[in-house]
Amino acid sequence: MAYRFANRIKELKTSPLRENASKNMELKDVISFAYGYPPVEAFPMETLQKISQKLYTEVDPETFLQYGASEGYPLLRKLVKERLAATANLQNEEQVLITSGSTQAMDIAVKVFCDEGDVVLCEEQTFSGAVNAIKGYGAIPVPIPMNVAEESVDLEALEEMLQFDQRIKFIYLIPTFQNPLGTSIPLEKRQAIYSLAQKYDVLIFEDDPYGDLLYYGEPIMKLKEMDTDGRVLYAGSFSKILAPSTRLGFIMAPDEIMEKLILAKQVSDSHTNFYWQVMLAEFMMNHHFEEHVSALKLFYKEKFEAMVAALEALPKDKVQFIKPAGGYFICCKMADELDPETFYAALDEAKVAVIPGNVMSVAQEGYERYFRLNFTKPTLPEIEKGIKVIGEALEQATPAAYKQVI
Ligand SMILES: Cc1ncc(COP(=O)(O)O)c(C=O)c1O
Repeated sequence: MAYRFANRIKELKTSPLRENASKNMELKDVISFAYGYPPVEAFPMETLQKISQKLYTEVDPETFLQYGASEGYPLLRKLVKERLAATANLQNEEQVLITSGSTQAMDIAVKVFCDEGDVVLCEEQTFSGAVNAIKGYGAIPVPIPMNVAEESVDLEALEEMLQFDQRIKFIYLIPTFQNPLGTSIPLEKRQAIYSLAQKYDVLIFEDDPYGDLLYYGEPIMKLKEMDTDGRVLYAGSFSKILAPSTRLGFIMAPDEIMEKLILAKQVSDSHTNFYWQVMLAEFMMNHHFEEHVSALKLFYKEKFEAMVAALEALPKDKVQFIKPAGGYFICCKMADELDPETFYAALDEAKVAVIPGNVMSVAQEGYERYFRLNFTKPTLPEIEKGIKVIGEALEQATPAAYKQVI
């Protein structure tokens, strides 16, 4: 039979990240800086085992095995709100909806706000899952030019887009420890972005799965903390601070939007898995969740510093990078005269995996000289060895070297 698929699904491409991930999982001898995964040592196994036992022996199964409220487990919603107030000074009247990862938060936000042909502005280099969510409803992701050195979108370009495009429904941003760039928008630019959103009356979707993982300096103010008129939809995730397979995320939004988000979620999956919602609530209530997050930060900081030291040893005329203050990624840019194809071929040959910039860009082209490195999953020896290999691949990609081979 000739299947007649909807246009919206024809537009979507499988994420090359996921495809490669499953391929690379089978290869044991690859050093991978590619995926935004936590290592298994990051999973708090003993605590989870204890809580799980408690659930099955002391807790009413109606709580975690029955159908539940679409909004989420009431205790967890309350704890997430309290945590945002304590860790980010985020105190307001808004509620949170527990979602199946922050991926679903983005999906239902687009579903609620975008008709076909509407526009969502995004950073030029951004999370491919968000781009797919936008395209999935026939909306159009439009890249905002970036000023990478200033760790921000270009404010003039943003204003021009807001001024001339009436189809814009919201601006999708990863303001803190951006994926893939690792950058964080400075405070005064955050304020300017919020003012522009007010001036042109558009929403902002603040995607913040890495915000907790600050390794240096003062906590960074969230756009949501500046929100005085219910303009920022704030999405968080427990994938990076507990475990991705829990699929626990959340979205904070004003009541009027929340009603629609809940409807959209009901259609999609009724509610997020209650077993993990109850597990997390118990963890937060009785098992020192914040101590777990602090230990995680120390663990990742050591890997981060090892990667920074290894990258700093590479020749600066061949590769540059912005040192983030936290998160999961360091993004590098090779010098203009280097040949990206030769570089990536040399890495493949040496079995070191990175994510090329084009994969993580809205246009899927023009960013081949950027590549993203994850430092949370590899071990310290892998970081040391893998970055050396990257240095050798950069050497092979210099004109003098690759022209000889040709
Ligand atoms: C910016 C960004 N948003 C959302 C997600 C997805 O998070 P979750 O596992 O909560 O769906 C990721 C994961 O890599 C991400 O980098």
